[in-house]
Amino acid sequence: MILVTGGTGFIGSHTVVELFEEGMDVLIADNLSNSYADVIDRIEKITGKRPMFEEIDLAKSEKADLLFEKYPNIKAIIHFAASKAVGESVEKPLLYYMNNLNSLMNVLENMKRHSINNIVFSSSCTVYGEPDELPVHEQSPIKIANSPYGNTKQISEEILKDISKISPDMNIISLRYFNPIGAHQSSLIGELPIGIPNNLVPYITQTGYGIREELTVFGDDYNTPDGSAVRDYIDVVDLSRAHIVAIHRLLNNENKKNYEVFNLGTGTGSSVFEVINAFKKASGLKIKYKISGRREGDIEKVWADTSFANKELGWKAETSLEQSLKTAWDWENYYRKNLENK
Ligand code: WQD
Repeated sequence: MILVTGGTGFIGSHTVVELFEEGMDVLIADNLSNSYADVIDRIEKITGKRPMFEEIDLAKSEKADLLFEKYPNIKAIIHFAASKAVGESVEKPLLYYMNNLNSLMNVLENMKRHSINNIVFSSSCTVYGEPDELPVHEQSPIKIANSPYGNTKQISEEILKDISKISPDMNIISLRYFNPIGAHQSSLIGELPIGIPNNLVPYITQTGYGIREELTVFGDDYNTPDGSAVRDYIDVVDLSRAHIVAIHRLLNNENKKNYEVFNLGTGTGSSVFEVINAFKKASGLKIKYKISGRREGDIEKVWADTSFANKELGWKAETSLEQSLKTAWDWENYYRKNLENK
């Protein structure tokens, strides 16, 4: 059985769908702080299978201990459970350090206690900070994090690396995500931020639907072709499929070292204005926006060198920015028309 912590979240739920498609059994542990449990019904609708589910705050060690005692047949863990908004982490640093680090350490403590040797860790391109050279590859310097969120991911990777050095039987893979966007083609699951979205794409789709008055573009004075900041937007289904490859790699002992890191991006950078234009092509809608100053914690530009993941994992992102914006828009419409306040 695969334990997916944070499995009712955006990337977690899409990964659970892919795990089921692969015929694996899944247990989700999630504290529902940034997601809703009814996503489980929709995972079942997509796959015909229902994951086991425990609502639990893994940052509480006694709760984490009980979970692992209750489920003795966990073979591998995909650890998503973490708070993940760059902007919010600047305002609430302690929440981010306590939640993100305690959750990981409680999981690792229990892995040792129960001899569970395989973990895929949800890391982030934010560990690169503001890179000096682009694209960033896995050996690019880890810069001073620009936000507490990015710092929790850097510290988490250091914890995993230190553990791998003294635990030769542990198999650890850190997947550094760039900017996950889009939704499952069924439109039954997608990104569903609680409250005002921190991330660009859900803010755009909510503006398109009329939930938000207009988008605020956080700065057009960056040293980029059109002045807006550049990111590597990767489709959430492509991203989820990389987790399946990583899990198989660990379960089949195909990993070359007991701590491996992979960039999961498309290898292409897109600016905020390019995303707005791609959304217009995908939806036919011209998003109303205003321009403000830069957001605290934001970097100017980052995109991935994905050659290591392409070669070593045999994995490559296949979905275009416009296709991802289309599925994100379809999900926004499905959710508002069929799920909201039901
Ligand atoms: C993207 C761009 C904003 C909102 C994300 C995740 C983080 C990590 C890295 C996985 C930036 C601009 C945004 C808005 C805007 N991923 N923007 N108006 O900050 O790159 O971080 O990727 O671990 O978890 O949060 O993503 O979508 O917030 O911002 O102009 O209303 O869009 O300034 O340039 P970010 P984002």
